[in-house]
Amino acid sequence: MDLKDRLTELKFKALGEIETVEDLKRINEIRVNLLGKKGPITEVLRGMKDLSKEERPVVGSFANKVRDELTEAIAKRSEKLEIIKIAKKLEKEKIDVTLPGVSVKVGQSHIIMQVIDQLEKFFLGMGYQVVDGPEVEEDHYNFEMMNLPKDHPARDMQDTFYITNQILMRTQTSPVQARTMEKHDFSKGPLKMISPGKVYRRDTDDATHSHQFHQVEGLVIDKHITMADLKGTLQAIARTVFGDEREIRLRPSYFPFTEPSVEVDVSCFKCGGNGCSVCKQTGWIEVLGAGMVHPNVLTMAGIDSTVYGGFAFGLGPDRFAMLKYGVDDIREFYLNDVRFLSQFSQKGQR
Ligand code: DAH
Repeated sequence: MDLKDRLTELKFKALGEIETVEDLKRINEIRVNLLGKKGPITEVLRGMKDLSKEERPVVGSFANKVRDELTEAIAKRSEKLEIIKIAKKLEKEKIDVTLPGVSVKVGQSHIIMQVIDQLEKFFLGMGYQVVDGPEVEEDHYNFEMMNLPKDHPARDMQDTFYITNQILMRTQTSPVQARTMEKHDFSKGPLKMISPGKVYRRDTDDATHSHQFHQVEGLVIDKHITMADLKGTLQAIARTVFGDEREIRLRPSYFPFTEPSVEVDVSCFKCGGNGCSVCKQTGWIEVLGAGMVHPNVLTMAGIDSTVYGGFAFGLGPDRFAMLKYGVDDIREFYLNDVRFLSQFSQKGQR
């Protein structure tokens, strides 16, 4: 058999093998075996030295052609096997994006916390600090320092959970006033604070009473603070919580720690002041208590009441939320029924 026939036979045998090979590793072996230095084509070419001068180029170019054909066949088959491999991998890793997902339930802050957050934001914006105080409080701060000595009749206004004679569950956030005043360094500027938190009263729970509820205390002490500053601040609070159209009205009242003291009404946000069931036909709704800080309170906290003065206020976020959202039973806030609480979602506030 001459060299050309041998090459032709080799070619068809190899092409058959290349066509049927199934994996990439094997085709690489075929390539090395067939076209490498020790492969059959090289061997055939080595035999060319015995050929005549005329035959040599003819067989040489035929051999090159065979090698090119085989190289191309191998490349094509490799490419195809590569595509098959990727397709198989994709098939295995397929994700069905039409499957229903697992929905993640997002929580929300409690409606009372939403009201407190709104007030904190407002007061921080006006340069107030937000201060915390203990819920288990001393009689000294809850009452004495707020100008309510032991035998003061106004103590009866706040039925108290006593733990010992001297320790109690705070009935109001006002003691944080005294704690903050004692520590304040007036050489660093005026005192402006609010203090939100829980308070406790020995009341029987009903639609308008809860043995535990919330207050936000406010206090400003500086030189030259007047009742006009108080009124402006109260009006800003009313408008922030109940709407830009709101007006306020101050009525004389009594608190032991302020003099003069006022009760603050806001014009009814439901009827705009004409009279409806929310405002009991008066056009006004009572929302908080306030006043000018009593000189005794300043003196007890070590502040010179002839130089410094200020105003204070105390409001109830529970009452604010009841009014604003038409909730007619304060106990709803503390039952933690998700069906009730989830009505006040903070869409767009997150
Ligand atoms: N502590 C009062 C209460 O619980 C509320 C209050 C009224 C606080 C007037 C104040 C204030 O700071 O000035 O009834």
